[in-house]
Amino acid sequence: MDLFEYQAKEIFAEFGVPVPQGKVASTPDEVRAIAEEFAAAGKSRVVIKAQVKTGGRGKAGGVKVADDADDAVAKAQQILGMDIKGHTVHRVLVEEASDIAQEYYFSFLLDRAQRTFLSICSAEGGVEIEEVAATNPDAVAKVSIDALKGASPEVAADIVKQGKLPEAAAAGAVEVITKLWDAFVGKDATLVEVNPLILTGDGRVVALDGKVTLDTNAEFRQDLEALASAAEGDPLEVQARDKGLNYVKLDGQVGIIGNGAGLVMSTLDVVAYAGEQHGGVAPANFLDIGGGASAEVMANGLEIVLGDPGVRSVFVNVFGGITACDAVANGIVHALELLESRGEDVSKPLVVRLDGNNAELGRSILTERAHPAVRQVATMDGAADQAAELAAAK
Ligand SMILES: Nc1ncnc2c1ncn2[C@@H]1O[C@H](COP(=O)(O)OP(=O)(O)OP(=O)(O)O)[C@@H](O)[C@H]1O
Ligand SMILES: [Mg+2]
Repeated sequence: MDLFEYQAKEIFAEFGVPVPQGKVASTPDEVRAIAEEFAAAGKSRVVIKAQVKTGGRGKAGGVKVADDADDAVAKAQQILGMDIKGHTVHRVLVEEASDIAQEYYFSFLLDRAQRTFLSICSAEGGVEIEEVAATNPDAVAKVSIDALKGASPEVAADIVKQGKLPEAAAAGAVEVITKLWDAFVGKDATLVEVNPLILTGDGRVVALDGKVTLDTNAEFRQDLEALASAAEGDPLEVQARDKGLNYVKLDGQVGIIGNGAGLVMSTLDVVAYAGEQHGGVAPANFLDIGGGASAEVMANGLEIVLGDPGVRSVFVNVFGGITACDAVANGIVHALELLESRGEDVSKPLVVRLDGNNAELGRSILTERAHPAVRQVATMDGAADQAAELAAAK
């Protein structure tokens, strides 16, 4: 689970990593109040930063310095509502402007290929690290971290040395790195990235940006709920989460509903493949309704998928197991009735493929009901092709 910058910085602060003071705002009025508070404390220069879960905000115009409260409001008005790589800016972080002497790069991450943790450090920060790594690989140090020993001050000193951070920043950076390791472990993160990590004019080392990804497998010992609810995200994803559905919004036109994560993943693949033959249509979402696909769960799933304005057709791909296909077919029938009774529009074509336990009975239930939106296809590839064709035809 990715966090917003302001959430990452709250975690950093909790572990004693120096960060600029800042507060989140969602309206120009809130921005004014925060900027005036800073001004009263003698810090009238502030930075307005778009809170979106994507990189390259600065380049897109989502990070702006303001000289006073009026300027802060003006800059916030430009940034709020802005679209950055498909992410709408709903909130900004209003932060005291730092006096930057130098910008570095630092991160801890889980290196799955090497089956270990890795730290990446470079004296050339503030810019895209991938670019530095490509053009000047010697400037980027990669030091693996022993999971049992962690990033002790000795290890951190070695990282700083290999990253070629200057002497003036060394002691401060070692302290920040050891604390970031505590945060990385303490919060069960798979990524903690600070770009830039800065040296200020008065010699302090401060985390000026923060990107944190938490491991959702650690949900049993971490309060991810609180972080997730603050993390508004896509409205359909929020709605799905509230209904307990496993839904991920994608950019395509073919809505996908299936039972079992593996089946849904392969459904995405066959639809993407079929879509190439039909003008490049693609899957609109991932939705796994799980094993016991009751009518209510199916109705909730259909409601979410049909509620996506990008969706032009839906592929319901079910392999009957413990929950047999007749139960799923009844679920679909009841789901459509439920949605119609709620006044929802269910006219988008639904391509259903039922296979597995009691498939024949399931199919006959749908045939009998003969809902105008529903058509059945026996094979997964055939159904994917038809769903893609219907989406392309619209
Ligand atoms: N509080 C601050 N004070 C002064 N300058 C800042 C502050 N925050 C950011 N900046 C400047 O803006 C640049 C971009 O900020 P930041 O790294 O947070 O965003 P970004 O890199 O564009 O976003 P992302 O890391 O998501 O791609 C920094 O490198 C720094 O020069
Ligand atoms: Mg950055």
